[in-house]
Amino acid sequence: MFKLLVLPGDGIGPEIVRETLRVVDWARNAGLRIELSEALAGGASIDAVGAPIAEDVVEQALASDAVLFGAVGGPKWDHLPRPQRPEMGILRLRQALDLYANLRPAVCFDELLDASALKPELIRGLDILIVREATAGVYFSLPRANEVGPDGQRRAYDTQAYTEAEIARVCRTAFELARTRQRRVCSVDKANVMETGALWRAVATEVAADYPDVELSHMYADNCAMQLVRRPDQFDVIVTDNLFGDILSDAAAALTGSLGLLPSASLSGLGQGGNSRGLYEPIHGSAPDIAGQGVANPIATILSFALCLRWSFDRADLADRLERAVRRVVSSGVRTPDIAHPGVAAVSTIEMTDAVLAALAAE
Ligand code: NAI
Ligand code: MG
Repeated sequence: MFKLLVLPGDGIGPEIVRETLRVVDWARNAGLRIELSEALAGGASIDAVGAPIAEDVVEQALASDAVLFGAVGGPKWDHLPRPQRPEMGILRLRQALDLYANLRPAVCFDELLDASALKPELIRGLDILIVREATAGVYFSLPRANEVGPDGQRRAYDTQAYTEAEIARVCRTAFELARTRQRRVCSVDKANVMETGALWRAVATEVAADYPDVELSHMYADNCAMQLVRRPDQFDVIVTDNLFGDILSDAAAALTGSLGLLPSASLSGLGQGGNSRGLYEPIHGSAPDIAGQGVANPIATILSFALCLRWSFDRADLADRLERAVRRVVSSGVRTPDIAHPGVAAVSTIEMTDAVLAALAAE
């Protein structure tokens, strides 16, 4: 019996998570044995208990196999200082659960090519997986400060630090995942100008020795940004640090032109047999501009649950079925407003989910 903790969050979070729970019900009817619980996170938690995540919710997450997360944040909490903001809830969870590998698939829905920022011929069939280190590096390393220096000038600094263990484990995750794909890993760094980059490259090369069946290449981060735009189809799996991964994964998502469709997973390694503890969430935010209107696209969250089935619940069979159903629905022209062509009638969040459930039932 697996345990799933559901954290709907703020804005459109509760709307898209509510619909995804109907898909969770489908999976249970198809034989998935899970225990569900739900709790507050983000602004909703700040309003209720004064913190972006309560310690007992962190405990609950630690006792769960997976967390399904909607999105957090919104104008109501924008005035709060950084440590008290809704986003800190998810950072706290990532660290507590040691979710060091953030997986961001950038998959092109060919039916939506005209929504993409790029030439269709460049991104047709695109399928890139970015594996971003997510618990170390410049967002976390100490010392860091924003202060007045001895000369009276304001100054600020951050520290980019990595240990070989931190690099090796996320590279292993990338190589393991490459084995389920095209067996190519591109490791991205700035080994030419950064010490952390030189270590990153050395450790990635050492880890590669354990995966002779997977091809490793190296690329500088600036070149990778250019290559993602010029010829994205050269990539299979990209593994990189926290900062470069943050930027490159947003760029890769923009290539596909489908913010409302892209899922993500944060894993603590990749267990044999695919039952890693993970946190699953859409890549988009809480979309306050459309919250409460019932028009948010639930697909990114539904596909996040598919990743959960695959990597935390050991049910690749159900994940495959769900991903196929979503593709059929999108191909058949069912559209929420964010992916609709101008002049074409769009469906609601609920109707989009209805269509996915109907496609699952029709298999
Ligand atoms: P956003 O992703 O929430 O929205 C960007 C644009 O995309 C908006 O126009 C929105 O309506 C649209 N959009 C996003 N998801 C959609 C969906 N499922 N269906 C249809 N349209 C969708 O990013 P934004 O506006 O920068 O941030 C809004 C809030 O979300 C902020 O408070 C931000 O801090 C928070 N945020 C939270 C994240 C998380 O919980 N992991 C990630 C990113 C932002
Ligand atoms: Mg980002």
